[in-house]
Amino acid sequence: MGMLDAVADRTVRGEPLTTGRLDLLPLRVEHAAEMARVLGDPALHAFIGGAPLTADALRERYARLAAGSPDPAVVWCNRVLGLRGNGPLVGTVQATITPGRDTAELAWVIGTPWQGRGFATEAARAVTTWLAGLPVGRLIAHIHPGHHASAAVAAACGFGPTPHWEDGEVRWERRPAPGPSLTDHA
Ligand SMILES: CC(C)(COP(=O)(O)OP(=O)(O)OC[C@H]1O[C@@H](n2cnc3c(N)ncnc32)[C@H](O)[C@@H]1OP(=O)(O)O)[C@@H](O)C(=O)NCCC(=O)NCCS
Repeated sequence: MGMLDAVADRTVRGEPLTTGRLDLLPLRVEHAAEMARVLGDPALHAFIGGAPLTADALRERYARLAAGSPDPAVVWCNRVLGLRGNGPLVGTVQATITPGRDTAELAWVIGTPWQGRGFATEAARAVTTWLAGLPVGRLIAHIHPGHHASAAVAAACGFGPTPHWEDGEVRWERRPAPGPSLTDHA
């Protein structure tokens, strides 16, 4: 098994990831019923399109996601966010690592009652830091140009906007860690 396969295995199994306030739990089908309520507000789809799924539809979706990508070149890493200590679920952060495991695309959703408390930033930072430590080439996210909250989350994780668009959204990319610059010594 090569290093990247080992990464994929670890990613799929899901290392424990925790922040100050959140457990980032590997997504399981058992999360679907509670998450159907957390994600039940149509307003969550203002920028990303679509509509909330019923509990049954979400259960089917989570069963598929938890089983892992059928394409071995793609790794699905989906986390459900729970308040630490078996508290309520508040949202998700998803990372999709695509061909050759070269690019990880991130997406975040926080249930409406839980928004505006820094949870998306806290969770996305943890996932970003974790992915940045794996041999994944670059991290990207696609964000609607009017979606200031999501742009703020991306910026807080070290992403910056690129000139690339996809389906009406701007591609954000995580810049490499800043190296020493001449001005540091000016
Ligand atoms: C985007 C989203 C995940 C943010 O979740 P959140 O937990 O409320 O975000 P945070 O509390 O971490 O706040 C992130 C930033 O957005 C800002 N923000 C939060 N709500 C905002 C709003 N309604 N309008 C403008 N800015 C907002 C916060 O002030 C913060 O900015 P700051 O760091 O400069 O202070 C949430 O709005 C959401 O789930 N939206 C629907 C799904 C979606 O569109 N996902 C994004 C797909 S790319």
